[in-house]
Parts: sequence; structure tokens; C-alpha cells
Amino acid sequence: MNQLGKQIQEMSQIVDAPPLLPIPKVEVATFCRSEEVTEAIRTAAIDRRMARATVTIKSGGIREATALYGGITSPNLVVVENDDDEVRLMAALEALAVECVTGTKVIVIGRSNDVSLYKKLLDAGVSDYLVMPFEPMDFVAAVHRCFRSSTEEKLGRIVAFVGAKGGTGSSTLAHNVAYAMSNRVDADVLLADLDLQSGTLGLNFDIEVANGMLDVLESPDRLDDVLLRRLAVTYTDRLHLLPATTDFNKFFSLREDNVDHLLEVARSSSWHIVLDVPHIWTQWTRKILLEADEIVITATPDLASMRNAKNLIDFLKKARPNDPPPRLVLNKLGTAKLPEIKPKDFVAAVGLQESVSIAFNPHLFGAAANNGKLVIERAPTSEAGRAIVALAWRVGGTRERRTHQKGLKALLRNVFKRTKPTKPKASSALRKKVGEFKASETGASAVEFALIAPVLALALVAMADLGFAIYERMTLDHALRAGAQAAMADPGATQVYKVMQSTLAKSANLANTTVAAVTRYCACPENADVKPEAAPECGKTPCANSAPELIFYRLDAATLYRPMSAPEVLPDFDLNSSIQVEVR
Ligand SMILES: Nc1ncnc2c1ncn2[C@@H]1O[C@H](COP(=O)(O)OP(=O)(O)O)[C@@H](O)[C@H]1O
Ligand SMILES: [Mg+2]
Repeated sequence: MNQLGKQIQEMSQIVDAPPLLPIPKVEVATFCRSEEVTEAIRTAAIDRRMARATVTIKSGGIREATALYGGITSPNLVVVENDDDEVRLMAALEALAVECVTGTKVIVIGRSNDVSLYKKLLDAGVSDYLVMPFEPMDFVAAVHRCFRSSTEEKLGRIVAFVGAKGGTGSSTLAHNVAYAMSNRVDADVLLADLDLQSGTLGLNFDIEVANGMLDVLESPDRLDDVLLRRLAVTYTDRLHLLPATTDFNKFFSLREDNVDHLLEVARSSSWHIVLDVPHIWTQWTRKILLEADEIVITATPDLASMRNAKNLIDFLKKARPNDPPPRLVLNKLGTAKLPEIKPKDFVAAVGLQESVSIAFNPHLFGAAANNGKLVIERAPTSEAGRAIVALAWRVGGTRERRTHQKGLKALLRNVFKRTKPTKPKASSALRKKVGEFKASETGASAVEFALIAPVLALALVAMADLGFAIYERMTLDHALRAGAQAAMADPGATQVYKVMQSTLAKSANLANTTVAAVTRYCACPENADVKPEAAPECGKTPCANSAPELIFYRLDAATLYRPMSAPEVLPDFDLNSSIQVEVR
């Protein structure tokens, strides 16, 4: 990575502790020159953290922005792509500053990778400088840095639990995970029952509250951090509950715009919030799922659950392109006498890579429900208890810890996993359906394979090249050995050369391209390690103590290997080998 990119990334890592929080309601005007920047900003604008910001994309640069804001009020943030040199950029920024109202922030996007330019821009009042190329999330992070305020630092995370259908155990898990989270995270946990009419939070924790969520929803606009703390029931020092009402005379409807405010207040309370979202699809449930930091979908291993889970996961993956996919819990596995889909098949069909499994345990869950005690309280070391604690660790930590496989590794994994033939047994309709769900992924696999195929082909050709190169090098050595054998009889350099050439001629590859050389030279015993080029002429210089001269042959062979691969993958390279023989 380039130097400035690294520095900026390091700076933002220090300042920008995860998780990246939602950006407030601000207006952002971007002026783009290139398709590359336009596309990155377009993707960033649909990120859930930008949901409240209004982003407009215009074509142009600093001059176009200056001209526009000479006539109308400038927005909260102006982002300009620049391709001018430093002198002209600074002058243009000065002109832009004159036209913008006080408080308007500016981000500059450019190709120059120069730390001194970055510092100059910051000195001139620019909020940030993004070096191209950048990822959409880099843009979101830059906007976030512009509007981060000290009060936002304490924001908590929101974990939403939703069932793929009714009765999957989503509420039970939400309650247990919230309890387990309160034992491990360093912040308080607030558990809210959004199943406003038939929520089970009160029952599961064995608490009775007259109003609970009713008070919260009666006038959402009045709600603030202080009121929220007063309305919540303290279950332990760390766990606070907002149960649903049990009064069927009361009717509620939550508006989509109330959700924003509720989540904002809940977040600013610095608590971790666990939301038990009912299995209904409304604008406000959808809004909550789009805004949550973590989503846990609980499903039972049957077709209806699988279909709903797949639709929901597909929707969430598309609507939250910059977030890891939701988590899946497969609950009530092994229910007696019930034909069920295997977890492996279920997970593959809904397009995820992992899931948490919890066995059907009516004794444990039934007793917990009947006694108003949680499974995690009654049996923390049971199999279900351990699965709940593991889930709490995963959703309660920073989301950045999640392993989200990217790039080649993920592609390869998908290709190899999905190209495995899936043979639905004709006898089982259930298996057939699972197969159909899986088959609907094959289009994606084909696209992925199309992407990976050129890389695989290049790798294959490069490997073949390497094999041929090793073979040619062995042939060179073979010719040298033949020459060395001939040299032992001291037939003269020309004769040895002929032997080598005739050996090489038998190799179709090397016949024409190889250069071979034979040098015969002499050296006195006391000077036996002399180089051939520095050796005295044979028989001309007498050796010490009238010792006879030693006779050597030096044989060299070299060839230029021209690979079949493209030069960018594997350029031409030299193969050479040599041998030295002493005639006795
Ligand atoms: N793994 C399990 N084994 C046995 N019963 C379970 C299990 N998980 C949940 N249950 C029971 O299933 C019922 C429905 O659970 P609930 O959490 O209300 O579902 P949902 O919120 O998805 O509608 C409850 O009686 C609960 O005790
Ligand atoms: Mg429920």
C-alpha cells in the first residue's frame, strides 16, 4: 500500500475505534470527475450507516462546486474530486471557502499520494483527503470522521433477533443471549420485547410490569436516555428489561420514523441493546433489521423456515452490502418423529457459511419456561447453555472480529463447495426441495467460476512452464556429464564440445537454442584453484619442484527458457549449468 494511504489508514484506526456508527442527518454533495469515484460513492450512499444522510452526486470538481454555492446555500459536507496540481488546488479551495456557509466541511479526493499535500490540506481547513482508489467503506469512514462528536463515543451496539417463522425459539434465545452478554460485555445490556402484544419476555424472566414498552411507544418523541433508564426494569446490575404489555385493550403501531429516534436514544444510552423482533414483516421491523449492528435469525430445520430464512438473508445481504451476513441459529434439531433438513444442507441452501446448532430439549426448555428461569441460569454448562454463551460472545464483541472471507479464498471455497454434485434422493420430497434451493445458487457459482477460470488457467500454464524448465535444466546437466566423461581421456576441447553438442542435439527443445562452451586449461598443483581465464598456457610455465601440470576441462551450457505463460506472469529466464573436470 502506498505511503499516504498507510498513514491515513493508521490515523483512522487510532481515531476510529470500531464499530463504525451511523452518520447523523446531514446533507452531502459530491462532485465527481471519474466513473470510479462516482461508483464508490454510489455504493457508499446505500450503506446502512448513511441511511440518514442525503447524498447527491454531481459531475464536476471544485470549480463547479464554487459556481453552484455562489448562488445557493452550501450543504453540511462538500466532497470534491480533484485532478489539478497542488498550486491550483489550493487556490480553487480558497475560492470555494468564500462561497460556502460557515460550518460546511470539505473532503478532497485525489490521486496524489503525498503526505505534505495531506498536511497542507488539513491546515487549510479541509476535513479529510481520500487517495484514489478507495473502497466505499473508506468514504463512509471519512464522512463519519467529519461528524463524529464526543457524545457519540459512548454509543452501544444493537443486536436484533428474529425468527424465520413463529415458534422457532427466537425470543427464548434473545433472552438467554442478552443474559449471557450481560455477564461478559463491559457495558449494560438492555433487552426490549418488540412483540408488542404477545411478547414472552415478562414470562421468561418472571417479572410483571404494567406498561413497559407501552410507555416507551406512547410518545416516542419525548423519549430520552434518562427516561429510558427509568422505564427499564433492572433484572441484574447489568441487565435491564423492557417487556411488552399484556393489555389486549391497547393497540400500537410503530412508525418507521419513530424507529430512528428510538434506536438513536437506545444507542446513546451506551447500553448494548438486544431487540426481540417479532416474526412480522412491516416497515418498522424492516427498518430495525436494516439498522442493527448484528442480526440473528433463528430457524427450525423445516422447509418453511428454510424458505423464509433464505429470502430474509438474500434481502439483508443486498440491502447491507458492506456488512457481514446475518447469523443463523438452527434450533430444535432432532425433534422426535419429525423429518428434518440436515444443518449442512440448510446452511448451503440459504447461502451462508456457518450456523449455530441447538438441539431440541423440551425437558430443559420446558422446565425453564415453566419456572420463569432462563436456560442459561438453570443449566449454563448444558449443551444449549454453551451454545448460548458462544453466541453471546460472537454478537457482543466488536463486529470487526468476525471473519468475513474475501477475495480468492472465499471464491475458491464457494466454487469447490458448490460444484460438488448434490444428489437429491428421489424418495424424499424434502431433500428434493433442498436441492432446488441449492440449485438456485448455481447461477452465482457460474459467475464466480467465470471470474476464477482465467486465474486458474494462468496458474496451470505457469506450473507446466516450471515443469518444462526443470526438464530442460536436467537435459543440460546430462550433456555436461557426457562431456565430462569424454574429457577424462583428454581428447581436446573440440572433441569434448562435439560430444556435448551431439548429446544436446537429441533433445528437441535444446537443439537450437543452447550455447555450450569447453575450455581446456592447465594449472600447477600449488595453484590448482586458478580460474580458466587466468590460467597460464599449457606447458609454458614450469611448476614448483618440477611437478607436472594438472589438466582441467571446464564445460558450460546455457539456454534461454521462453515460457508459454504471458510475460507478465512468467518472463523469459536463463538456465545455465557448468562442470569442471581434472584429467588424471
Ligand atoms: N431447543 C429447544 N428445545 C425445546 N424447546 C425449545 C427450544 N427452543 C425453544 N423452545 C421452546 O419453543 C417455544 C417457542 O419459543 P419462542 O422463543 O417463544 O419462539 P419465537 O419467539 O420464535 O416465536 C417455547 O416454549 C420455548 O421454550
Ligand atoms: Mg417471539
